[in-house]
Amino acid sequence: GAPIDVDLSPIAEGQIVNVFWRGKLIFVRHLTAKEVTDMKATPPGGMIDPAPFLARVKEGHEKWLVAYGNCTHLGCVPIANQGLDGWACPCHGSQFDAVGRVVRGPAPINLPIPPYGFQGDAKVRIG
Ligand code: FES
Repeated sequence: GAPIDVDLSPIAEGQIVNVFWRGKLIFVRHLTAKEVTDMKATPPGGMIDPAPFLARVKEGHEKWLVAYGNCTHLGCVPIANQGLDGWACPCHGSQFDAVGRVVRGPAPINLPIPPYGFQGDAKVRIG
C-alpha cells in the first residue's frame, strides 16, 4: 500500500487517533508531558518485551507514539485509559503502557511500530 500522511495538528495532548494503513489499525497517540516523563523513567529490565522509551518513539518527537492497534495476543483492539496510562485488552486482560509496551500478558510482545517518519513537526508519513 501507498504511504499515508497524518496531520498531527488537530490531535490534542492526551488524545489518540485511529488510522488505517494497509488495512491495519494504527494508533497515533499524543502523549502528555507526564506520560513522557513517566515512560522515560520506567526501567525496561523487568518488562515482558523489554524496550527503552527511545525504541518506541522518535528522538526529537518524543510526545508521539505510532503503533499498530491490535493486541499481540489474538488481535483484539485494546481500549485506552481504563484507569491506567495505556491500554487494556478486553479479550484476555493484556495491558500496555502509554508507549504500547506490554505490562501484563498474555500478550507476548509490545504493540509493533510501523515504518514511519516525520515530515516537519506536524505531520507523519506512515509507510
Ligand atoms: Fe488481547 Fe488476548 S487478544 S489479551
